[in-house]
Amino acid sequence: MENESPIYSGKAKSLYRTANPGEMLMKFRDDITAFDGGKKDTLSGKGSRNAAVSSYFFRLLEKNGIRTHFLRMESENTMIVRALRMIPLEVIVRNIAAGSLVRNYPFKEGTVLKPPVIVIDFKDDTKHDPMLNDDIILALGVLDRASLTRLKQFARRINTVLSRDLKKKGIKLVDFKLEFGFAGEDILVGDEISMDSMRLWDEKTNESLDKDVYRFDKGDVLSTYRSVTGRILPCENDHRNT
Ligand SMILES: Nc1ncnc2c1ncn2[C@@H]1O[C@H](COP(=O)(O)OP(=O)(O)O)[C@@H](O)[C@H]1O
Ligand SMILES: [Mg+2]
Repeated sequence: MENESPIYSGKAKSLYRTANPGEMLMKFRDDITAFDGGKKDTLSGKGSRNAAVSSYFFRLLEKNGIRTHFLRMESENTMIVRALRMIPLEVIVRNIAAGSLVRNYPFKEGTVLKPPVIVIDFKDDTKHDPMLNDDIILALGVLDRASLTRLKQFARRINTVLSRDLKKKGIKLVDFKLEFGFAGEDILVGDEISMDSMRLWDEKTNESLDKDVYRFDKGDVLSTYRSVTGRILPCENDHRNT
């Protein structure tokens, strides 16, 4: 597999063909980027932590009746997924004001958002993922109204499941990003649910436990990813040293 060239190589993951045309191999690389690729590094062992956390959350969603592309792990940093026709949207659910919401609007960081705020961006780095609204999504023909409504319902249900699970582990789910895709008529959760795509704060200290540690040089990124993986995964003490 590693000898083959990927069908697609993005900022942090690569996709490979498999013998089955309905399935793909997704490799979580050790690359980490921020600010539309303006900051880049490679951190050995980062990919396997994101893969482990993603597979844990995909399984949790499936148990809660939410369909995802996850099929099985192939190795510690590779996952077999269903090949989806991706919807070029980033669906972001925000429970607490942080990041671009604070930069672009008069929210005070840490303000609890009730109900959670859903923001949908157009997935296009060259345009810096511009924020959309329902009319633009419909006018672009990305989705019809019924699918857009379903997408938002999924996002809210997923938020409930993830927030509840993380709360048990003393972690606040500040916000997170989802990508969806079509398998025939069905809409499935795709991509990843990891420290790269979630903003997580320690319940007691509000310390960042996610990619913000990398973005803003808040500490040792790998040790944060390692320790948060240990907190999220049940019965797995993340004992590796890499
Ligand atoms: N099940 C899937 N089928 C097809 N493409 C997928 C699937 N899940 C995720 N993708 C796409 O694979 C790419 C993952 O690599 P990533 O490094 O995150 O890329 P990017 O820099 O484009 O975000 C993304 O473009 C994502 O939309
Ligand atoms: Mg991505």
